[in-house]
Amino acid sequence: MRFDDHFLEELKQRLRPSEVIGKSVKLRKQGNEWAGLSPFTKEKTPSFYVNDVKGFYHDFSSGKHGDIISFLQETERLSFSEAVEKLAGMAGMSLPAVTPQAIAADMKRQSLNDWMELAHKWFMARLQDKTPAAQNAREYLERRGLSAEDIATFGLGYAPRDRTALKDALVQRGAKVSELVECGLLIEVENGSAPYDRFRDRLMFPIEDQRNHVVSFGGRALNPDDKAKYLNGPETTLFHKGNMLFGLPKALKLLGAEETKSELVVVEGYMDVIACQRAHVAAVAPMGTALTEEQIDILWRRHPEPTLCFDGDKAGQRAAFRALDRALPKLKPGRSFKVCLLPGGQDPDDMLREKGALALREALKETKPFVEVLFNREADLEPLDTPERKAGFKKRLRALAALIEDKDLAEAYRNDMLERYDVLVTPQRPTKAPFVPNQGGNNFNGQRQPWKPGQKREVYIPPAMEETRRAAHNLKVGIDPTCAGLAQGLIDNPDWMMDQVEGLEAYGFGDEALSPLSNALIAISFQHEGLDREALSRHLHRQGLGALLSEIQKAALKSGAPFLSPDISLADAHARWLQAFNAVSRLTALDRALNSAREQVGTEFFSRLKLERDALRRSLRSGQIWQDEANNA
Ligand code: UTP
Ligand code: MN
Repeated sequence: MRFDDHFLEELKQRLRPSEVIGKSVKLRKQGNEWAGLSPFTKEKTPSFYVNDVKGFYHDFSSGKHGDIISFLQETERLSFSEAVEKLAGMAGMSLPAVTPQAIAADMKRQSLNDWMELAHKWFMARLQDKTPAAQNAREYLERRGLSAEDIATFGLGYAPRDRTALKDALVQRGAKVSELVECGLLIEVENGSAPYDRFRDRLMFPIEDQRNHVVSFGGRALNPDDKAKYLNGPETTLFHKGNMLFGLPKALKLLGAEETKSELVVVEGYMDVIACQRAHVAAVAPMGTALTEEQIDILWRRHPEPTLCFDGDKAGQRAAFRALDRALPKLKPGRSFKVCLLPGGQDPDDMLREKGALALREALKETKPFVEVLFNREADLEPLDTPERKAGFKKRLRALAALIEDKDLAEAYRNDMLERYDVLVTPQRPTKAPFVPNQGGNNFNGQRQPWKPGQKREVYIPPAMEETRRAAHNLKVGIDPTCAGLAQGLIDNPDWMMDQVEGLEAYGFGDEALSPLSNALIAISFQHEGLDREALSRHLHRQGLGALLSEIQKAALKSGAPFLSPDISLADAHARWLQAFNAVSRLTALDRALNSAREQVGTEFFSRLKLERDALRRSLRSGQIWQDEANNA
């Protein structure tokens, strides 16, 4: 045979059936498929379907069915070889030469493949051994919520600790050491000592290609002291990391199982793929590297708009941004990505364990459009507080849009992003009636009206410019770090504002310099329901508070506030913030009371207030307050 399976598979992977067939048949998207008039009969209503995920066409009018190769054979009367040659041209692949070397290479691949399959069976068997090590591995999997059935479904295995356990087993079955080195199963060292097992005391994840052949492994360390948590097989003749995605065969099955609206999700890790697929979400992952262009193409061939889901942490965000940059130039109408950032820094695996399959499925549907994520990334690079920075930002937006090769889409992106720019930088004008100060008691005597999100009230929005000018004046003195910490806590967690609006109205954050922010927060909370952190930040920037926000951020760093630390649970953080917020408000209230009660100086009432005020102030200034909270918590 002129073309080996490997070549044909690659060819089919590179071409989308709807694109190849769409050149001669007018196709319209219909759910997961494309429909058109049969090229084989003279029908009037479309009964010819093309399915990109499954990689075939089906013609109900003639009963014909096949892939892109048979389509060309049928419609253009080409031989098999001619059809393949033509398709190879479209895919930009050069034809394999039929040399004795090529045939030998093919046979070699075949035998390497056999050893990989055998190694896989062996790893799976080792996981079921009666040894303490295997027992430990099974317990680990159980702790991570995987059942015996899951272990079988995903073909998980165990690589024992001994340096030559796998090598000995396979050599005994006839493998050559050199072959096992070539598969990546053994490590060959330069000093000439004997090759040994690459994976030792690791949980083994088989990596399958399109034809369900195991071509490599990922191994997770079971010993927490191990330097590399995950170890992947090296590049081999069977395994090219950059054009494979972990979990793809199973993901395609899951995609095919659902008629419409099913998503294809790209996650970060092996366990995340497994978690998603256990929740019946089609998911794949690159293997420890950033998404490559080849991988992006593979994804687009299977789905017009895959979801990039990265861990909610900094590394996850960087990975998402790298993927955006890779994909941007190649975006086309009907070829894009959605982005999902899971809440609370969780990965899909954490989420499945803690909240269940339903919650994970729902969370993966919470996506943002590509253009929005791209825009926000640029907007967050620096504050937009000077004409230079604004112009620079606009320039970056234009430059990004220009990277898109598809000219129509590039224009659409430019327009969309510039619209977003206008919204972001245009200061909001006061539109509401003047603010009437709240007469009824304060927040901390227990008799406040709980504030409900979305509750509308007439609030005066101070003109942004005036506020910023006043704030700038105050900034010269420097913001009190504790107050800045409180403000930062609220900016990071807008939902904490619930029930605190009246306290904010009465006392702000306890530092005059922060009043433009507290006023803006109050106004925004009455106008918008349930804003998330990003949306809130956009609103604040739009009101000209960018400079103040960066000052706050700097000052907050000095506060030592525990609720700003990433190491604290959300509930704890909230409790501590609330306590500090109350303390600062109380301090402001005491200050005011003492100021307006000068004529009572010397009375017992006055000295009691003063005593309390001074103690509270000391506690706040010294950071003692954080210790107190730690003890209370
Ligand atoms: P993470 O460190 O996010 O781990 O790596 P994880 O997937 O949450 O793993 P668990 O839940 O602790 O088991 C994400 C992916 O990055 C690659 C692997 O592909 C991993 O699945 N990775 C990570 C490596 O290749 N090497 C490493 O040392 C760590
Ligand atoms: Mn994880």
